[in-house]
Parts: sequence; C-alpha cells; structure tokens
Amino acid sequence: MKLSIVLPTLALALAAATSFATAPAQAAEPIVIKFSHVVAPNTPKGRAADYFKKLAEERSHGRVKVEVYPNSQLYKDREEMEALQIGAVQMLAPSLAKFGPLGVRSFELFDLPYIFPNKETLYRVMDGDIGKKLFTLLDAKGITGLGFWDNGFKQMSANTPLHSLADFKGLKMRIQSSKVLEAQMQALGANPQVMAFSEVYSALQQGVVDGTENPMSNLYTQKMHEVQKHLTLSDHGYLGYAVIVNKKFWGDLPADLRATLDQAMRDTTVFERKIAQVENDEALAKVKAAGTTQVYVLPYKDRVAWQQALLPVHKAFEEKIGRDLIQATYRVAAQVEKGKTTARANKHKAAKPEKK
Ligand code: SIN
Repeated sequence: MKLSIVLPTLALALAAATSFATAPAQAAEPIVIKFSHVVAPNTPKGRAADYFKKLAEERSHGRVKVEVYPNSQLYKDREEMEALQIGAVQMLAPSLAKFGPLGVRSFELFDLPYIFPNKETLYRVMDGDIGKKLFTLLDAKGITGLGFWDNGFKQMSANTPLHSLADFKGLKMRIQSSKVLEAQMQALGANPQVMAFSEVYSALQQGVVDGTENPMSNLYTQKMHEVQKHLTLSDHGYLGYAVIVNKKFWGDLPADLRATLDQAMRDTTVFERKIAQVENDEALAKVKAAGTTQVYVLPYKDRVAWQQALLPVHKAFEEKIGRDLIQATYRVAAQVEKGKTTARANKHKAAKPEKK
C-alpha cells in the first residue's frame, strides 16, 4: 500500500478521534414524562402535579422533563387509563373511583359511604398494608402505583334542596365510573348517571343531570356552583387519587433516576396532603361568596339517617371489594378512635392532677 494513501486516512481517523475527545459533551435529550389529568391546575391534584414537575426537573438536573396536561386537555377519564397502558402518557393520578373499569374493583373500597370517619384513618389505610395490597393488583395491568394523593370528603349538590332522603327520589345524579357509587345513589333513591368529569358542567347546565357529588375544590374550579342552586355539606363519601405510571416505562428508567423521582413523589405527596384541606376550605368560602348556591350543613340527626340508608352498601360489596379489606379498614378506624380517646383521657388527667 502506498504511503500517500495511508497517511490521509490515518490523519482523518486521528482528526475524528481528537474532535470526539475535545467536542463539548452533547446534552442527551431529556426523558419526557407526560402527566395527564382531568382537573383544573388550581386544585389539590393540579397543584401537586405542577409541584412534582418542579421537583423532578430540578433534582434530575434536566434529565427528565415533565409535561403536565390538566383539564382533560389530552385525555378524558376512561381514555387516560388506556393511554397509560399503551404508553401514550407515562403518569396519571385518576380518582380512586375510576379503577373499576380496569378490572381492579378493590379500589372501590374508597367509595364506600362513610367508611372513613377522619383523614387519619384514611392516610393509615393508604400508607399501610391495604394501600400496598391495592398497588400489587395494578401490576398485572402493566401499571405501577407510586402514591396516594388526597382531595377530600364529598358534598352533594342539585338544583333542589337535598336535606332528607326523600329529596333524592328520582333525581338524576352524575357519578364517576364506580359500581359502589351507583349503589350509593340507588340507596338514596336517586338515578345514577356515569359521566366523564369534563362533561359534568354542561350536563348540569343543560339539565341532562340534576345534581352531583364532589369535594368543594372540584365543584368550585369547574364552576358547578353556577349551575347548582343547592349544596349540602354531607361528607358522605371520599374522593382521592392514586398516582400511577406505565410499569415498563418506570422499570426501564436508570435506577438512580428512578430513585430521584421516587423521592420527588414522596415529597410531593407530603405537599399535596398539606394543601388538600386548605384548597377545599377556600373553595367553600368562594362558593359562599359567589352567592349562587344555598349551602346547607347536614344536621347530625339527618346524617345518622343518611348513614343508616347507606351502610348496607358496605355489605353488598364485600365480595367485589374484598371482605378482608373492608374489615381491615374498620379495624384501622377503631384503632384511630381508641388512640384519640386515650389522648383525650391523658390530657384530662394532666389538666386535673389527682388530690392527695
Ligand atoms: C378528579 O378529581 O380527578 C375528578 C373527579 C370526578 O370525576 O368527579
């Protein structure tokens, strides 16, 4: 081989090697997480999604980009679950009432009327063995659960007053896609209508349905108070979220990045639970100030009557949800109650030292 041919080739190879070594490192494209949800940005879930984006992008130093799509902009309720499973989006936080159509009916535990006497019981259920068991059920669906977010207890609204049980008779009430919620409305004598969240405002406005149930933050940010003359503060049921990701996407992330995102999610969950009640209290104040809706606080005696009418729903769903899960939730509630009683007794003792 002639030296004149070898030399330029060698020079090119050397030049390429040198330029490779000295070129500024090309920034890798960030991994995109599309996070789709159906509520407004100024709700507990909306604010938490934005907070997670901030933490994830900062702490990953740009290796991850989180695109948040609020207000059903990208997908409606049912579509978003399918989109997650096929990998068209990577992260969602659906209401716990929307897992039934996926074939995991045990999540409907959270829809049982009056099952959570307080938030402490709720958080213990979410963060303990019950929550863990629920997340294992998602595995077979190609979904990984990352955390449970709060919203709040639900209130009833309609264009006619909802005071006694008789007031529900024949009313068309919009519900989420949960068989428990269907049974709940039937037990009240109403006619349940499943509907996507994005369609509720216009359905109420046009009289397609007469009323609905939701925590105040959702009711206010969707302007439902503009088309609902009556609101009953009943706290008869609960609405919260499971933050979920596409299992393959999550499993394929580099381990260090996944750990960073896991921690960002834990911190976001703490943030979310702190703001949930505040957002709901503020929303109630704004609804009252708007003056479009008469707000009625359900008195204790009626609350008892509602409870009596609704408790048979627990028994009716033992098989579908799992008797063990329902019983375990009752036990958690009893433990919380016992703890409160002991704390009260100790406080009382400390305040009144025994006479010698
Ligand atoms: C949500 O909070 O994600 C929507 C709840 C609903 O559909 O009523």
